[in-house]
Amino acid sequence: MYPRDPETGRLIRPTRIENDQIVEMVDRFYDKVRAHPSLGPIFNDAIQDNWDHHLQKMYRFWSSVLNSSGVYSGNPMAAHITLKQKVVPPNFGQWLTLFKETLDEMFSSEDADFIYGKASNIAQSLSLGMFYNPASPHHIPPEADEKSGTA
Ligand code: HEM
Repeated sequence: MYPRDPETGRLIRPTRIENDQIVEMVDRFYDKVRAHPSLGPIFNDAIQDNWDHHLQKMYRFWSSVLNSSGVYSGNPMAAHITLKQKVVPPNFGQWLTLFKETLDEMFSSEDADFIYGKASNIAQSLSLGMFYNPASPHHIPPEADEKSGTA
């Protein structure tokens, strides 16, 4: 069990990844993103001159994801749904490749695996939110299973 703050009684969680490492990770990653032939234009069109603001937001996002700090508030799904016309499914693989490259440059394999696991889960839910279409002919609704007698 974590120790408690004697004044507030709240649990004190250990910081898993230090803030300066998060800042470096985000900065390195977005340098790669901006130089990428497919991802670069998507990000630059959306963010334009507001890179500083975006990076600050991403420091807070990763601090919340990796250290449960609670400093990020936002709605990543809504932000990505608005990009639906510009993003294609393979962009997620490209994003994850650059992210993994960044982690391998900076972290032990244990920390890199931990961070990559978080990123790939989030990538999966964002890409489902953006591209999953229940009306697609490839989707078999649960009722169809029941009718076929397999349920
Ligand atoms: C194909 C892959 C992706 C693309 C092209 C993409 C693109 C973008 C762009 C352009 C923005 C800025 C939107 C704006 O400010 O107008 C954004 C915001 C954001 N992205 Fe992604 N993204 C991708 C994957 C991911 C993944 C995998 C994560 C998390 C692991 C992520 C986390 C975020 C977050 C937290 C924001 C800020 C949302 C907010 O405004 O609070 N993105 N993304």
